[in-house]
Amino acid sequence: MRIDIITVLPEMLQGPLNCSIIQRARNKGLVEIEVHNLRDYSTDLKHRRVDDEAFGFSKGMVLQIEPIDRVITHLKSQRKYDEVIYTSPDGEMLNQKMANQMSLYENIIILCGHYKGIDHRIREHLITREISIGDYVLTGGELAAAVIADSVIRLLPGAIHDEQSAFNDCFQDNLLAAPVYTRPADYKGWKVPEILLSGNQRKIDEWELEQAEKRTRELRPDLLQNH
Ligand code: ADE
Repeated sequence: MRIDIITVLPEMLQGPLNCSIIQRARNKGLVEIEVHNLRDYSTDLKHRRVDDEAFGFSKGMVLQIEPIDRVITHLKSQRKYDEVIYTSPDGEMLNQKMANQMSLYENIIILCGHYKGIDHRIREHLITREISIGDYVLTGGELAAAVIADSVIRLLPGAIHDEQSAFNDCFQDNLLAAPVYTRPADYKGWKVPEILLSGNQRKIDEWELEQAEKRTRELRPDLLQNH
C-alpha cells in the first residue's frame, strides 16, 4: 500500500509516522508513506505562499486551488489512486469499518485540512472522500491524517506480530474489547479473574465474549444495534 500525505506542516507528521508499528511496517515494505510539502507546489517561487484571503467578508486565509491541483495531478500521473481523502471536522466520522475498507486499498492520497479551510472547489472536483476523526476542531488536519494512516496501516497483514489480535480489537464486530491482565495474578489482593488462570480455552473464549458484550452494553450501547 502507498499513502501520500499533502500538508503545509510536514514536520507535524514526523513523530507519528516514524515510530513503533508504523515504522516497522514501513521498514518491512508493507506500506510506503510519502509526505509532500504543499509549498513545493506553490506558484509563488519567492515566498512559497499557498494561501490567500477568503472572498467575501469572512476573515482569514484559505488554501488556494492551484498548488493542491498541481500536487494531486503530479501524483495521479504516476499511479492510480483509490481515494483522495480530505481531513475535515465536517467529514464522515472515522470508524473501524472504514479503516478495514481502506486497508484493502492500494494507493491513497490524504490532503490535510487547514484551520480556515481550503477553496471549496478542491472539495468539489478533486476530493473523493472527506473524513473527520471526531466532533471537535483541531488546528489542522495533520493529526487526523496520522490517525487515519495509523488505523489503516496496523491492519495490513504482517504489521502486527499476532495477526489474530487486530481482529479482536475494540469495534471489530461492533464490540468493545474484553479486559486484559498480566502477572502478577494477585497484586495487593487485586485478583485476576480466576477463569483466565484455568487454562480452559473454550471457557476463556466464552468469558471474553461475555465481558465484551457486558462492557459494550454498559459503555457503548449504541454499538449493539449493529452487532
Ligand atoms: N481538522 C480539524 N479538525 C478535524 C477533525 N476533527 N477531523 C479531521 N480533520 C480535522
